[in-house]
Amino acid sequence: MPEGNEPAHRTPEGRLRTELDEANRRVAELYKLASLGRLLASVVHEINTPISSIFTNNEVVLRSLEKLRALLAKPGNAVSDPKVSEIVETIQSVSLVDKIACERISSVIRSLRTFSRVDESDLRKVDLHEILRDSLKLGSCEFRRRVQVETEFGELPLVECYPHLLNQVFINLLINAGQAIEGEGKVTVKTSMEGDQVHVAIADTGCGIKPEDRPKIFAPGFTTKPLGVGTGLGLAISRKIVVETHGGSIDFETQEGVGTTFHVRIPVRRRETGGS
Ligand SMILES: Nc1ncnc2c1ncn2[C@@H]1O[C@H](COP(=O)(O)OP(=O)(O)O)[C@@H](O)[C@H]1O
Ligand SMILES: [Mg+2]
Repeated sequence: MPEGNEPAHRTPEGRLRTELDEANRRVAELYKLASLGRLLASVVHEINTPISSIFTNNEVVLRSLEKLRALLAKPGNAVSDPKVSEIVETIQSVSLVDKIACERISSVIRSLRTFSRVDESDLRKVDLHEILRDSLKLGSCEFRRRVQVETEFGELPLVECYPHLLNQVFINLLINAGQAIEGEGKVTVKTSMEGDQVHVAIADTGCGIKPEDRPKIFAPGFTTKPLGVGTGLGLAISRKIVVETHGGSIDFETQEGVGTTFHVRIPVRRRETGGS
């Protein structure tokens, strides 16, 4: 509340209050992120077990159906009604769809898991280009044919990192790039060395990010995509992986109607994170 004629932000008290509000907002944001992480960890744990059993059962069903089909195909088998073969075929194709659905759920679970914990034993020295090629293979499913992908790889040393986590980051950025492009366009992936960091730039010729959305895109849950397409977690997870887990940085440049470039910088050697 402004007192006297002085606007609140000009008085020392007003400034302090603004800083306090800002600090409170950050704490609330971090708290949300931490509780989201805990919630995800428990959800992942709860879902993982039943999905594994469905997955295993599904394999048994598919194998059994294969055997049943072979039996039915034998001449002189006990069941001659062609309806039976038809039913078997239906169950078989439905089971195949179930298998794909299970695989999809498992992959979502895998990606959520990276949000909740890091296994120190996964730290490795790797060729970042191998990770990128792997991410391109998976991430570009989103835009195969529609979008041209170009790579400009520089000379890079091996990087000490968590490969599966960085793979996750690159896939998120590539999928976002593909989703930002309506119709045809181009995604360019460039790598270079910058001092003691590797620099990966993922540029798209997409719609760009509106000025009012720019401060929000890394917030967990922020999405401009329709329900079912966006979860708003991709960039929040990516930032956590790059900044907290790897001591790197992630930022972007964007121009509406022209495109967006995300810059990821990862230190070649992991910096000592004092204490642990
Ligand atoms: N390459 C991009 N081009 C345009 N907008 C983007 C791009 N990457 C991210 N965004 C914006 O940031 C939002 C958050 O991204 P993200 O955290 O990956 O969540 P989601 O993709 O599920 O919406 C997106 O909904 C979109 O508005
Ligand atoms: Mg995304």
